[in-house]
Amino acid sequence: MERLVEKSILVTGAASGIGRASAIRLAAEGAKILASDVDEAGLAATCESISADGGTASAMICNVADPEQVDACVDAAVQRHGGLDALCNIAGVLHADIASDVSLETWQRMIDINLTGTFLMCQAALPHLVETKGAIVNMASIAGLSGQPFSLAYAASKGGVLALTYTLAVEYGKRGLRINAICPGDITSGMTENFVFPEGADLKLLYRVMSLTGARPPEAVAGVVAMLVSEDGIHINGEYIRVDGGTRA
Ligand SMILES: NC(=O)c1ccc[n+]([C@@H]2O[C@H](COP(=O)([O-])OP(=O)(O)OC[C@H]3O[C@@H](n4cnc5c(N)ncnc54)[C@H](O)[C@@H]3O)[C@@H](O)[C@H]2O)c1
Repeated sequence: MERLVEKSILVTGAASGIGRASAIRLAAEGAKILASDVDEAGLAATCESISADGGTASAMICNVADPEQVDACVDAAVQRHGGLDALCNIAGVLHADIASDVSLETWQRMIDINLTGTFLMCQAALPHLVETKGAIVNMASIAGLSGQPFSLAYAASKGGVLALTYTLAVEYGKRGLRINAICPGDITSGMTENFVFPEGADLKLLYRVMSLTGARPPEAVAGVVAMLVSEDGIHINGEYIRVDGGTRA
């Protein structure tokens, strides 16, 4: 498919998992990618993979929780690729705890990266997306839709991402922007591979977050990202799509 030829797209969290798969998929559909992350080596691997397939990508180190780095990252996408057509906010972190054990530090980290990071990227990108009548895709989670055990801070941050998505969709819809979210569940990635169960957790509670089909690779989400930023998603705004193998059906 060539739905995104010459489109300039900024992807955060592009060094691993869903962000990397999305950057590769968007580039394969013709987009020029600004791949950003805090992981330099992972970013380089993503960009090499895109270049090897004949695509266009360049890397930009950016901590999404740092306003100055966020502004520089958005500017880089605009300067390098002549504007900005879409922003995919995919960077995120998860730390599992029993609710009563969540430290203020963990709470703050989840909120800073998952929620404030999404806010900062959106705010920096919006003036450019107004010019192109562009699109934003925010990576939320099924944790933001209903109870996910041992994920108090993470779930709160992802619920915030959904609320932010709806608000922006309403404020900017008339100007031709589309702002949507995806709620993945049970996707194999760095996040799920490094998941550590909290000591003393009732593991039976985790059955409710397991998909009916078993885990799927990040490419299962990347195709939905591509649809939402393309003309195929032209009448979708302020929506979330569950990509969770039926977990929350
Ligand atoms: N894997 C799943 O089942 C699942 C389910 C629901 C939601 N998600 C969401 O999908 C997104 C991608 O996660 P993934 O599963 O691919 O995990 P991942 O760990 O493979 O990728 C996350 C990426 O975010 C980057 N990152 C972390 N902190 C950052 C920061 N401060 N600034 C910039 N980049 C930062 C990491 O370096 C990493 O490359 C996350 O927002 C996550 O919450 C994943």
